[in-house]
Amino acid sequence: MICLPLFGMAQASNIIVKTAHSSLVFKKENNGTLKQLYFGEALQNSNDYNALPNRRDVAYPTFGTSYLFTPAIRTAHNDGNPSLDLQYISHTQQETTTGIEETIIHLKDPQYPFEVDLHFKAYKNEDIIEQWMSVVHHEKKPITLNNYASAALSLRAPQYYLQHFHGDWATEMQAEEIRLTAGIKTLDSRLGTRAQMYQSPSFLLSLATPAGEDNGEVIGGTLSWSGNFKFDFEIDEQNQLRILAGMNEQGAEYTLAPNTVFNTPALLYSYSNTGKGTISRNFHRWARKYGVMNGLGDRFTLLNNWEATYFNFDEKKLTSLFDDAKELGVQLFLLDDGWFANKYPRNSDKTGLGDWEENKEKLPNGLGYLVKEANNRGLQFGIWLEPEMVSPKSELYEKHPNWIIKLPNRPEHYYRSQLVLDLTNPAVQNFVYKIVDDMMTKNPGIAYIKWDCNRMITNAYSPYLKNTQSNLYVDYVKGLYKVLVQLRDKYPKLPIMLCSGGGGRVDYGALPYFTEFWPSDNTGATERVFIQWGYSYFFPSIAMSAHVTDWGTYNLKYRLAVSMSGRLGFDLVPKKLSAEELALCQQAIKEYNQVKHTIWQGDLYRLQSPYTNNLAALMYNSEDKNKAVVFMYHTQQLFDPGTTYPVKLKGLDPSKQYRVTELLVAPGKKAMCKANGKTFSGDYLMKAGIESGTKRAQDAVVLSIEAL
Ligand code: DGJ
Repeated sequence: MICLPLFGMAQASNIIVKTAHSSLVFKKENNGTLKQLYFGEALQNSNDYNALPNRRDVAYPTFGTSYLFTPAIRTAHNDGNPSLDLQYISHTQQETTTGIEETIIHLKDPQYPFEVDLHFKAYKNEDIIEQWMSVVHHEKKPITLNNYASAALSLRAPQYYLQHFHGDWATEMQAEEIRLTAGIKTLDSRLGTRAQMYQSPSFLLSLATPAGEDNGEVIGGTLSWSGNFKFDFEIDEQNQLRILAGMNEQGAEYTLAPNTVFNTPALLYSYSNTGKGTISRNFHRWARKYGVMNGLGDRFTLLNNWEATYFNFDEKKLTSLFDDAKELGVQLFLLDDGWFANKYPRNSDKTGLGDWEENKEKLPNGLGYLVKEANNRGLQFGIWLEPEMVSPKSELYEKHPNWIIKLPNRPEHYYRSQLVLDLTNPAVQNFVYKIVDDMMTKNPGIAYIKWDCNRMITNAYSPYLKNTQSNLYVDYVKGLYKVLVQLRDKYPKLPIMLCSGGGGRVDYGALPYFTEFWPSDNTGATERVFIQWGYSYFFPSIAMSAHVTDWGTYNLKYRLAVSMSGRLGFDLVPKKLSAEELALCQQAIKEYNQVKHTIWQGDLYRLQSPYTNNLAALMYNSEDKNKAVVFMYHTQQLFDPGTTYPVKLKGLDPSKQYRVTELLVAPGKKAMCKANGKTFSGDYLMKAGIESGTKRAQDAVVLSIEAL
């Protein structure tokens, strides 16, 4: 047994992994094969599980014996035998924490000392299942794992519809839905570090018909892994679907030494027969409690200086921005890229990464002075780091050429003029840890970090790994997690933003160490509506940093309204705002502070999709149904495009009376929405709805709804 179970060891024929509304059922056959019998809505009567017919779906299919499709696991033994046969040995099931039941199913090859544990954590109230696999062998020499999926899920329906999310820098998380046909549809990444830049490790799979927000059978899945991933959706000759999900084994066949446990990352998934809205709310509830650092806590509103100054700043400019931040009413100033390195000053993205001491010309008095100046104005101070990277023009590169991922006999390949440090190497892990630790020790007043990662891995070669090069992609991420664990041990409360040249790294492998993520460098209001819409399927708004910037030509109210639906921040020069604009920003921050708890902790209802409506709308409802915030976005370019239809709200109490108050109405200006200031029943708001009242192109209306 890999993790010796002390409790609940059982030899049952049915093993049921169960949440409040879903269940996943396995059966042990007499010949030892473990089958998956069922995944779907939980059956009311537990005896009914015995009536489930047998199926041919092996719970964790292996390569080399009788299985004819893509295997979950493949390896060859020391004697050259290329097959694996995993048979059920035992399982344990116990409530490890209140509301979380953990199941471990132990499998073993009858001929070889090769063992696999299938792990399941059922989060009862959140309706989330977390599944991963661990493997160990006791053969004489190392073996190579050619495939090593985290989970294999079998499904049966007449048709299958896959919604997935793809993009690039500035176009992250674009949603697309397709009908799956016979054969394999693969979603994967090979980018190594900013692994989700082109394709997200998250999906929604509808059964029979494409699920809507409130109707249809659907499974949402997301992999807790910040590296290369792979999802295979394979439809076989009987129109059954098998989902295989895990790390991408391409170029990453893993050499596993004897007696060493290898854990895969977890696939998190949720089943709903009430559409995609339920899936999102399940993930959000789960994430706030378990998936995002301090997900039930607070967040800073902030002013960031990236787009305000880029690399061009000094102490005077920064302290003047502190004054602006104070006047604006935010809580924190975030100093971005460009503050460090002396031999090769960081005055552009071409130099200095790795040399993490203050640039003496820009910051002669060091970070301590900035922290003090910010604090003197009642502001917190945060800072940007990109700890995993190195510029070829840096002292770090000169001192430690062996710490860098690059092929020994090929030209270096740059992206944003930089290279990736080799985090498989414990010395590099220690260096990365110390970047943060030294900075925090010297400047304990630093209250926030933005952790960036601006390139993918190419020319993949680790000087440290020597003969096990194909372990690089996996060991890199495990090395990164080691550093993050160590940092969180010492700094459990420090807010850290997960950023990756926009949203190149957003996943539940990293988010337990981060308080929020940067969805995209694209902050143009309309584009942001689409990008945030994509993330909203899996990630809660409290984790979604959303800054008001000058990107595009959108009006300020629209930009504020888009940012207020996440964690509000700013990245502009407040002095360039007119008096009226500054007043609107100040008002927005005040209003946001009133409603932010509902936005962060509330249940999300996506009311009208920007993909199919001129008017996109979403709302957050407090759990007690006493408060809600509604966001309506006129994303189209045309004036009066006929968007005067009502938006029907959701999730309210039909019997309660609610007062509607429009936010972002500047002093002296009239509210757009005719419902402003009026009272309606929840029933009315959900059936008759509310019109936004604006005919303007690219505009927004934000409403606060409060029960009387
Ligand atoms: C990429 C990030 O997405 C930006 O917000 C900014 O921090 C730059 N990097 C700085 O180089």
